[in-house]
Amino acid sequence: MATPARYRQTASSRPSQPSPTEKQQHATDKPKPAPSPSTGFSLFEILRILCALLLISCGMSRLCTSGESMTWGFNPWWTRAREWKALWNGHIRLTDADLAHHDGTDPSKPIYLALNGTIYDVSANPKTYGPGGSYHFFAGRDAARAFLTGCFQEDRTPDLRGVEEMYIPVDPPMPTEDPGAGKMWRKKEMSRAEMKMRHARELREARKRVREGLEHWHVLFRGEKGKPYFKVGEVEREEGWLEKLPRRELCEEARKGRPVRKVEEVWEVVGKE
Ligand code: HEM
Repeated sequence: MATPARYRQTASSRPSQPSPTEKQQHATDKPKPAPSPSTGFSLFEILRILCALLLISCGMSRLCTSGESMTWGFNPWWTRAREWKALWNGHIRLTDADLAHHDGTDPSKPIYLALNGTIYDVSANPKTYGPGGSYHFFAGRDAARAFLTGCFQEDRTPDLRGVEEMYIPVDPPMPTEDPGAGKMWRKKEMSRAEMKMRHARELREARKRVREGLEHWHVLFRGEKGKPYFKVGEVEREEGWLEKLPRRELCEEARKGRPVRKVEEVWEVVGKE
């Protein structure tokens, strides 16, 4: 069968005869190796995989932490815009009256609370410190005393005078129930010097507990327990502010919670009834 005209090579479509110079060039050309199929990843593919892994990790973390963290709880300060802003603004000094404007009722202002003169930003937790929050009463003020006594109504004040009393033990009542029943008791006698020494020891211990109690909260608000809180400045108060406040009694709750000395330290048996 004759080849159809469209398949027949014309003079123009036929490869032309190589020229002598082309022939020379072909002679020196080495056969190129066939490109092997690529087994490595390109930089773009690696980046794509890393981004996908990051996204999966963020999603999983959000699910596992009930929507609280996308970084598995890793929350260093430099990842928080608010802290950079505070760093930029520098340390602030607010009066107690200024501080009151930062109780979370104005959403355009950060939520602050103060502890013994140090102001912390707790805006990261509006559920607790904002309006309607369980600890909203701590926001916009320095209620250091209440942090120790737990008297959230009466002790919203920075006045810590006499608060150490809550850690000074009281005498136990005379034992009247078993194994004390049926015995006659009397208080052990102590010399004035012994009493003075005991009081000094107990006072020292109580003051230490006040410092530790406050430090426990400072640590939390400095963000050292993983909460995204941080220090922003200090409360500015006029000289002698503390003396101007009336001295206060230890609140009932704290009085009731005072430690009790051991029976044998205070009472001794002198006979049977
Ligand atoms: C001196 C006594 C107390 C003080 C000063 C105090 C203070 C606080 C503060 C400041 C927070 C928020 C912590 C944060 O920002 O992460 C908190 C949380 C919490 N407190 Fe207290 N607390 C006291 C006693 C109690 C008691 C006796 C209970 C339980 C009967 C309790 C239950 C809770 C609970 C459940 C939370 C976490 C939930 C939330 O933030 O609302 N607290 N406490």
